[in-house]
Amino acid sequence: MKKLIAGNWKMNGLSADAYNLSMGIINGLKQSPQLGSACDFLICPPSIHIGLVQAFFNGQDVPVELGAQDCSEVEAGARTGEISPAMLSDIECSSVILGHSERRQFHDETDELVASKAALAHKNGLVAIICVGESDAEREAGQQNAVVEKQLLASLPEGTTAANTVIAYEPVWAIGTGKTATPEDVRQMHQFIREKLQEKLEDFAQVRILYGGSVKPSNAEELFRVPNVDGALIGGASLKADDYLGIASAALDIADAA
Ligand code: 13P
Repeated sequence: MKKLIAGNWKMNGLSADAYNLSMGIINGLKQSPQLGSACDFLICPPSIHIGLVQAFFNGQDVPVELGAQDCSEVEAGARTGEISPAMLSDIECSSVILGHSERRQFHDETDELVASKAALAHKNGLVAIICVGESDAEREAGQQNAVVEKQLLASLPEGTTAANTVIAYEPVWAIGTGKTATPEDVRQMHQFIREKLQEKLEDFAQVRILYGGSVKPSNAEELFRVPNVDGALIGGASLKADDYLGIASAALDIADAA
């Protein structure tokens, strides 16, 4: 399966930055079209820029899909400030990140809320990228598997399939810290997630499991070599076109060598 190279821009950049970053990605992909043979590309700008970024990519003939960083769990109505999955589908987003640890931490999102959002996202034809991951203290206490199992099983709604869901394992202590989980930590957790998916889903083997947390061009290759790592969810390094595409190059090198 192709690696999914997903950029989460978080709350970064004004419209001029979104333009420059988009053009950097467009030009880079035109110069290196072979990246598309090894990777699928998704970028998730701040919601207010999605339409703008859509316009920058329009007609450029590069294989990049757009997604959002969150959505509402209700269809429509009196939810000031929120964006519905139908609105995201309407502007041709393919995907939405849900349950990111920053949403869980700063907006008190629970697994149950994440499952409701994912169910509505599915209903509206979106792929839900469901994030799970333990904190530093939880790993220190050896609870990482229990924490991830609970988050995973409680955040997946009825009707989850490999076609409508991607899992992102993002250990909280590795996000934006420069600390990356070791390949062995990642191997164990991704295998564990695959086993848990097997208990729930018929097509568990096809579900993409992304790693996220300080992924950069210099560590992408060793992470992508780990079994059950089907791509990356990239924060900081997705804000520089060269780094974002450098991570894709690592996936291409592995595919070429195989
Ligand atoms: P960093 O790549 O900046 O560590 O962020 C990871 C992340 O949270 C992606 O969703």
